[in-house]
Amino acid sequence: MTRAHNFCAGPCTLPTSVLAELADEMVEYGGSGMSVIEMSHRSAEYEAIHFDTIERLRRLYAVPDDFDVLLLQGGATLLFAMIPMNLAPAGAAGGGRPAGYVLSGTWAKKAFGDAAKVSAAYPAWTEEGPAFTRMPSPADVTVQDGTAFLHVTSNETIEGTRMPGFDGFGARLVADMSSDYLTRPVDWSLFDVVYGGAQKNLGPAGLGVMFIRSELARTSPDSLPSYLRFDNHAKADSLFNTPPVFSVWATGKMLAWMETNGGLPAMEKRAAERSGMVYDTIDGSGGFYRNPVEPAFRSHTNVVFRLPSPELEADFLVLAEEQSLLNLKGHRSVGGIRASIYNGLPTESVEALVSFMRSFAASRA
Ligand SMILES: Cc1ncc(COP(=O)(O)O)c(C=O)c1O
Repeated sequence: MTRAHNFCAGPCTLPTSVLAELADEMVEYGGSGMSVIEMSHRSAEYEAIHFDTIERLRRLYAVPDDFDVLLLQGGATLLFAMIPMNLAPAGAAGGGRPAGYVLSGTWAKKAFGDAAKVSAAYPAWTEEGPAFTRMPSPADVTVQDGTAFLHVTSNETIEGTRMPGFDGFGARLVADMSSDYLTRPVDWSLFDVVYGGAQKNLGPAGLGVMFIRSELARTSPDSLPSYLRFDNHAKADSLFNTPPVFSVWATGKMLAWMETNGGLPAMEKRAAERSGMVYDTIDGSGGFYRNPVEPAFRSHTNVVFRLPSPELEADFLVLAEEQSLLNLKGHRSVGGIRASIYNGLPTESVEALVSFMRSFAASRA
């Protein structure tokens, strides 16, 4: 078996032990005579998996009792619309309360684009220059009176920027944490909602994971179709309709792996150290590699960098691929190189990357 060093921005690399367990149990699960992906989602076996995954999320993230954990289909993108539809609906149902959006990068802009269609959403901050190279401080953000929530993107996956903190924004926060989920503790007192797709740090694709203050998940506007109402999912413990059973099962296994590997403190340390190895290589390259982000806002999970020319970047990618260092091409909208270093990526992959970066720079200097 050959496993590549896979720096994909999502879906992510999962530990081989997690994949092996899934493979072992795929055909028959725990004496049930069938696979998890074949059994009823109302069966005792599946319910045990489902609630175990939810409990592990609660434990790992120290989620307070007054939050619900919802497992939803449609990823983070469906939640871009569902959140304002439920929490700041346009018109009479929402009492006309606006929702502020920090436009910190590509994903924040997408969230705002959908919110603007279904609510009174307004931009609360955006960077003036053409590129996103930093995050705002609370003083930069303008929150309108009566704002229902301020939406932030804790980590911009494409631009490689990260919000260093969340205190002092003067509004209840709703955060898209897709690309730095479970890589640092959350101060739950600041948030009404934390959400993200599972496929970067938590497991395979097919699952949106949302933590929502319970009182906000108790009622939803009657005008919403049933799947879009948070209250339906909360009342049914995320079994309102057929859940994405494979993703829930595999995510549970990835969460168990995190728990046996030191939990959230270890994931936080890993993220800082492993991204730090790449930043050190960039900063120590005498200008050959360049990271455009202001240092205080450098992502711990998506490290972006440029080389002196597009031709060198193309050569870098070809040679990297020959050494099994895959999916390092930056997002097509920004170019350059991007290494996504999520929880499940082995440290050897990061070591292989920095060693390759050093030898490539030496060969072209
Ligand atoms: C920060 C962020 N938000 C949202 C999304 C969209 O997630 P999904 O594909 O689960 O809809 C992504 C995907 O890359 C992302 O990086």
